[in-house]
Amino acid sequence: MNAKKNIDWDNLGFNAHNTRSMFIANWDPIGGWNIKGLVPYGDISLSPASTVLNYGQGIFEGTKAYLSSKDRVVLFRLEENAKRFNSSSSRLCIPEIPNEIFINAVKNTVKDNLDYMPKKNKGSIYIRPLAFGVSPTLGVKPADHYTFLVFVTPVGSYFKSGLDHLNVLVTNEYHRAATKSIGSAKAIGNYSGTLLPFSEISSAGYDEIIFLNSSNEGIIDEARSANIFIVKDETLKTPPLKGSILPGITRDSVLKIAEEVFHLDVREQDITIEELMDADEIFFTGTAVVVAPVGSVCYNNKTVKLKKSYAGSITKSIRETLIDIQNEKIKDPFGWVMPLE
Ligand code: COI
Repeated sequence: MNAKKNIDWDNLGFNAHNTRSMFIANWDPIGGWNIKGLVPYGDISLSPASTVLNYGQGIFEGTKAYLSSKDRVVLFRLEENAKRFNSSSSRLCIPEIPNEIFINAVKNTVKDNLDYMPKKNKGSIYIRPLAFGVSPTLGVKPADHYTFLVFVTPVGSYFKSGLDHLNVLVTNEYHRAATKSIGSAKAIGNYSGTLLPFSEISSAGYDEIIFLNSSNEGIIDEARSANIFIVKDETLKTPPLKGSILPGITRDSVLKIAEEVFHLDVREQDITIEELMDADEIFFTGTAVVVAPVGSVCYNNKTVKLKKSYAGSITKSIRETLIDIQNEKIKDPFGWVMPLE
């Protein structure tokens, strides 16, 4: 069956499509990581008592491959994903995977599925590496067998609303992560906890939800799917990495672009709810969302429309610079882009 026929290539959105293949390696306590390699994309079987199903012992990554303006496929800061995968692994008691295995697995999976690359300006290939405990345990303890898996899918925009129109709500009913818990790891449980908070507000037309810090409800943490930045009087601010925040690779790239390309005053500092509501610009960052400008923000039944329009904003300059680096439209001053060879 040709799975590609069922894909709407002009309106991809952010969905998982069947592709040709996925990469698998398995870990056991005697042999360590044993590479199975590429297998046909499809369902996997798991013990009902596996730790991932029972206790959420699982982590993931997200990165993208782009068809660049030089007509070649490139990857972006992949070593950073490998490093973060391993820091997430150690937090979840999952055996670390050598960076070389991680990087080769990503490259091989993308290469084998290159015909799923969207046309230029229509999207990219999203890459999802996973690691999870597969052996059965009933007591709360780490598994003694693990699977590492990489799958890919063509994607377009994460948000359905276009640029400048994201309506967001700050919740004071739920937290995303406790400050000394697993918020800084890309642990699957951090995302399941956001499903109910978001489903309760999405029918009211909100595109995203922002969580307050669980130890200090006067400051913000991040959103369901992304980190957050504000701009006020040409100063760019994002919450510091203090435990409950994911160390986003796009977050870090934006900090560097803002500082080194635009010479902005850049601060990793707590953002109070008052500062958020008084910002000139607010935007989200992440591999999936890229740099996504906010149009309005609601807190305690008060809605504020952002003062500055997207055209002419700092958000736009940063977003376009990042995308142009990723697509090799401008010189990459940071050495972030790696051709797929
Ligand atoms: C990404 O940006 O790649 C992520 O992993 C966020 C995801 C929850 C959409």
